[in-house]
Amino acid sequence: MHSKPITLLAAAVAPIVNAAGATLRFSCSQLVVERLDPLVNPGMNPSAHLHQVVGGNAFNVTMDPTHLDIPSTASCTSCTPVEDFSNYWTAVLFFRAKNGTFKRVNTFGNELGFTSANGGQTVYYLSSGKVTAFKPGFRMTVGDPSFRTASQLTSKYKYMDYTCLATSMTRGGQTTSFPKGPCKAGIMVSIRFPTCWDGKNVDTPDHQSHVAYPQGNACPASHPVSVPQVFYETYWDTRPFNDQSQWPSDGQPFVWSFGDKSGYGLHGDYVFGWKGDALQRAMDANCNSDLFSNKINCPTLKVQSLDDSNKCVKKVAVRENLDGWLTELPGGMPVS
Ligand SMILES: *[C@@H]1O[C@H](CO)[C@@H](O)[C@H](O)[C@H]1NC(C)=O
Ligand SMILES: *[C@@H]1O[C@H](CO)[C@@H](O)[C@H](O)[C@H]1NC(C)=O
Repeated sequence: MHSKPITLLAAAVAPIVNAAGATLRFSCSQLVVERLDPLVNPGMNPSAHLHQVVGGNAFNVTMDPTHLDIPSTASCTSCTPVEDFSNYWTAVLFFRAKNGTFKRVNTFGNELGFTSANGGQTVYYLSSGKVTAFKPGFRMTVGDPSFRTASQLTSKYKYMDYTCLATSMTRGGQTTSFPKGPCKAGIMVSIRFPTCWDGKNVDTPDHQSHVAYPQGNACPASHPVSVPQVFYETYWDTRPFNDQSQWPSDGQPFVWSFGDKSGYGLHGDYVFGWKGDALQRAMDANCNSDLFSNKINCPTLKVQSLDDSNKCVKKVAVRENLDGWLTELPGGMPVS
């Protein structure tokens, strides 16, 4: 089971039941969109490229785990489980018009239960069998922003893809590149992290070597500890950009904030910040969530409304214009 991503079919009946493990699924509204990256570029203000960030409001230029206790620093979270002060972030999608200008694409609430969320993303913690929750200070990234080909992506990473939504219920037909044609109901981006940990390091210099994918059904000897599968689903509202007469002549209208017009540079960042053992308890209790509502079936977790999670926002620390038609990507990231 570990070797495959757990695919949730829209046809599944609510609640999602996974007898052998947990299927925790919840909404995290947009916390801030800005050029900071405390994981890859700590202390750098602004960081190289733009991010959309969700989770606890302790998100900051620097989040050094030796000096920062995230759950006691944050005063709110944009996620619905109130004990989850983790930060989850990805790059930001831009539309690139025929005339060479760029417009930022907004995220929107997952229409399977989270329509009233102010953008952000859906977060999953999945398990099949016993898993060990992350430790304080744990962080990781998946994906490589320098990748521009399918083979680069698929030889190193698994289970990261795009779904061209014909309706909000569309599942299947995923691609590892940006979808080639207009997507009536937007583009869903799925980013799934590896599920095996070395059991020692909460981070490594490349933010990736301490985790690994399973081999077959088991974690490799080098990374023997099964951890929950962290999985992001982001709905990008590309609906205003479906007029192909405005698309550039190379037929690639979307570009990530780090300049990638192929889509293969897809990546995600995770900074663990659950309070105490709240995540471990939820995983041990095989908690699950209803697929079509903001309801988590989990006696051990306290959950807030989407309205309350929308209220947790962080003041922008990096002032720059992100709206309207821009002549270049924020930070001047070149497109390739
Ligand atoms: C961010 O870090 C700065 C400098 O350490 C600190 O003054 C500020 O309070 C922090 N902001 C948040 C939201 O934690
Ligand atoms: C560029 O194209 C966009 C989309 O077609 C349009 O809205 C915008 O006004 C154009 N900008 C310029 C400077 O022509």
